[in-house]
Amino acid sequence: MGIDVPVVNAPMGGAAGGRLAAAVSRAGGLGMVGMGSAGTAEQLDAELRGVDGLDRPFGIGLVHWVVEARPGLLDRALAAGPALLSVSFGEDWPWVRRAHEAGVLAATQVGTVAAAMRAVDAGVDVLVARGAEGGGHGEPRVGTLALLTDLLDRVEVPVLAAGGIASGRGLAAVLAAGASAAWVGTAFAACPEATTQPAARGAMMAAEGDQTALTRTFDIDSGYPWPEHLPERVLTDGAGRPTPVNAGQGVGMVTAAEPAAELIARLCADAEELLRRWA
Ligand SMILES: Cc1cc2nc3c(=O)[nH]c(=O)nc-3n(C[C@H](O)[C@H](O)[C@H](O)COP(=O)(O)O)c2cc1C
Repeated sequence: MGIDVPVVNAPMGGAAGGRLAAAVSRAGGLGMVGMGSAGTAEQLDAELRGVDGLDRPFGIGLVHWVVEARPGLLDRALAAGPALLSVSFGEDWPWVRRAHEAGVLAATQVGTVAAAMRAVDAGVDVLVARGAEGGGHGEPRVGTLALLTDLLDRVEVPVLAAGGIASGRGLAAVLAAGASAAWVGTAFAACPEATTQPAARGAMMAAEGDQTALTRTFDIDSGYPWPEHLPERVLTDGAGRPTPVNAGQGVGMVTAAEPAAELIARLCADAEELLRRWA
């Protein structure tokens, strides 16, 4: 794909807009513009202005049921010419053919080996092994390391690792295991370029890794039709109750609102040092 460092920012509704994607891509990673439960074609257009004129590859990440509900979203995403289109959390695949016809690589997040096999059969080019530790929505059935290593032994397509990667050590670990890159959400959600609300950013910086929980409460309250097997991982409050801030178990390693380029440089320098030491 012509990226310099094996780091992808996860597409995150309400956090990963055009400004973050541009900063990540300029720093040598793959910046992804994310549209979540509330994403619309108009909102995507607005965020894509942030990658206008960018001379680096970028990606777009969508949610399957949102694409079904708002068909204009997929058209707009493909028309924007991303290097990678990710559509996650669904089980039918016409979008893969649409992506390929547009010359765009197709990715999807999977939480089990069975789901990965179905995605590969459907022609998906890049799998994201999304472990239960991850922030936001996902199928929390298997932890990142077990899912990643199992998948790497079974599929030929490149596999990215997601869930709980928020340090150079985490990046080094998944690269050493054989992942093609890390798909990092929580750590990028705290960056100043993210559209995360200031209070949520502050809560993330203050939280430890044991202060998250899985919940469907906020989706049910909002009337979003997320399937039952796809809860979201959020921060908890002092009493252990879920709060509406998406974050994964790596949140304890997020202690500052570091600009995306600095975060990427730190993750890569630390990972490189460790990988050299181990070699
Ligand atoms: C704030 C936030 C919002 C998210 N929104 C989305 C989304 O809209 N679409 C999506 O596919 N994944 C979303 N995710 C999940 C990420 O794609 C990814 O699976 C996860 O962030 C990886 O784990 P990590 O948070 O531990 O890095 C979100 C994650 C976070 C933290």
